Amino acid sequence: MKKNIFCLDSDVILLTGGAGLLGSQYTEVLLESGATVVVFDINAESLNTLENRFSNMYKNKIFTYKVDITKESDILNAKDEIFNKINKYPNVLINNAAIDPKFDNSSNINKSRLENFSIDQWNLEISVGLTGAMLCSKIFGIEMAKNNKGVIINVSSDLGVIAPDQRLYKKENLSDFEQDVKPVTYSVIKHGIIGLTKYIASYWADKGVRCNAFAPGGVFNNHSKDFLDKIEELIPMKRMANIDEYNATIIYLCSEASSYMNGAILNMDGGRTII
Ligand SMILES: NC(=O)c1ccc[n+]([C@@H]2O[C@H](COP(=O)([O-])OP(=O)(O)OC[C@H]3O[C@@H](n4cnc5c(N)ncnc54)[C@H](O)[C@@H]3O)[C@@H](O)[C@H]2O)c1
Repeated sequence: MKKNIFCLDSDVILLTGGAGLLGSQYTEVLLESGATVVVFDINAESLNTLENRFSNMYKNKIFTYKVDITKESDILNAKDEIFNKINKYPNVLINNAAIDPKFDNSSNINKSRLENFSIDQWNLEISVGLTGAMLCSKIFGIEMAKNNKGVIINVSSDLGVIAPDQRLYKKENLSDFEQDVKPVTYSVIKHGIIGLTKYIASYWADKGVRCNAFAPGGVFNNHSKDFLDKIEELIPMKRMANIDEYNATIIYLCSEASSYMNGAILNMDGGRTII
């Protein structure tokens, strides 16, 4: 075992959705822990910002690729590019990318509601949150299995364990059928990714590949007072997470510190899912 079991300096970590809110936090803390970080994201502008922020301080340690993880050909092309550049494949994969659906108030039909939910929106969100995670696991997991060593982390949510409490999104003066809701896709994806985790955790366990799900609670991101008042009542710790409070957990899950953890769902939500 390594002297510092949290050290990641021999690891190449692929992070999907790494240019987003939490992904950029994870990128920073993984770089600080010595990892080589490969970021896939569909948003070229955010990727550029990320690369500019870290490439000077962490020379030849951060590689960003504009990849749509719903497209197998995009992932395979990037896989070849990674190998050509660093002569190895990632030994850790964090399936973090997701579509964060915004409430759309542009029409009087509320599209977030189950009774109005379109098949196109369903397909789009599932294709990123589930299909994309499966494709990345398949394409990079096979290399980990051949190498007899690897870690896959699937990012779920507290809402991968419990149902959303739709009262959180409720507004005064709207009828029940006009109220915004957390969409059905969120629950299905975040529960589904736990199924993917258990599948992979048993599938490649004898090939040295561990797979765990991380189920974080909501992160404070300038939410309205009304929302905060309501959600704090649902969380025993009476607050949302701070943006950096998941960083150490990500290091733990990627590193040898979690060497006997496989197929677990790691909840970290201020206690929301216990009540
Ligand atoms: N922020 C929270 O409060 C919270 C709480 C629980 C779970 N989560 C989960 O954590 C993860 C990160 O959340 P976040 O808040 O940073 O979200 P985010 O929306 O800021 O980041 C997601 C990233 O995924 C990228 N992405 C979307 N579609 C893609 C595609 N087809 N190919 C490649 N990249 C794509 C986006 O461009 C974005 O940069 C998500 O899985 C989310 O569901 C977040």
